[in-house]
Amino acid sequence: MRVPDTGGGHRHLATRAVGCYPTEPMADSGDELPFAVLSLQTETERNRRAEFARLFRSAAIPEEELLANLGLFMRRQHWARCLFMHDLYRRALDVHGVVMEFGTRWGQNLALFSVFRGLYEPFNYTRHLVGFDTFTGFPGVSPEDGTNPTVSEGAYSVTEGWEQTLEKILLYHEGESPISHLRKFELVKGDVSETLPRYLERHPETVVALAYFDMDIYKPTRDALTSIRPHLTRGSVIGFDEACFAALPGETVALREVLGLGAIRLQRVPYSPTTSFLIWEG
Ligand SMILES: C[S@@+](CC[C@H](N)C(=O)[O-])C[C@H]1O[C@@H](n2cnc3c(N)ncnc32)[C@H](O)[C@@H]1O
Repeated sequence: MRVPDTGGGHRHLATRAVGCYPTEPMADSGDELPFAVLSLQTETERNRRAEFARLFRSAAIPEEELLANLGLFMRRQHWARCLFMHDLYRRALDVHGVVMEFGTRWGQNLALFSVFRGLYEPFNYTRHLVGFDTFTGFPGVSPEDGTNPTVSEGAYSVTEGWEQTLEKILLYHEGESPISHLRKFELVKGDVSETLPRYLERHPETVVALAYFDMDIYKPTRDALTSIRPHLTRGSVIGFDEACFAALPGETVALREVLGLGAIRLQRVPYSPTTSFLIWEG
């Protein structure tokens, strides 16, 4: 996930190539790991946000009230992402099938989808959530992915063993809703070009109601789109994180090759500049 630009950032972009900053370790977090992620923020924004993140880490809110007050720290761009995921989920509500995310990383979208399932269709135990990721970042890149320096092997990795923590988080969310004795999510670790065909072989019953593409790069996006195509039904919702995004061209190239831009209607919502979606019409 990119940190979306603010309004003022466009001027910055026009005068300088797309910025590429590794995430700053937080001064008081003890976190020394540099994760290569693409960001369009200005230096000023970066410093301001780092300061705000420190304020979050040090906020003297009692533990039992902290999570109930996260809205204090979520900025416009964070809300845009959550609202977009909500929008996609709402659009897929009357479509039978599972939800897949390609490129889960820390897994926030899966957690959101789990919460939305609990809110809108708590008894729909067929609405499985399936997250695909290497959990070690990009396994490799292709010429179609352009020349931005962030686009390199290992970018967007997570801390070692994060998938086990994510399992616990998703189990927790499942436990807050009915029918929690039935496990309704799965994390599939590995290169999606290999893991998704195997998953679909194991699950020939799969209908994809909602798929979110956020792997950023060409080859896995192409392969995953190709693999899920026979599992789509009219009305299936497919979301994209990076369509028409110059710093990461590979996702759009894959979309063009597999589905064809003229054969779909790529739509957007007003509050989110980079995300898009289509409703599959067969
Ligand atoms: C931008 S991050 C995803 C961000 C996440 N969806 C979010 O909203 O926070 C891109 C993810 O795609 C994953 N990825 C890239 N290529 C992949 C591949 N071939 N197979 C599986 N995962 C891949 C990376 O490991 C990384 O976690």
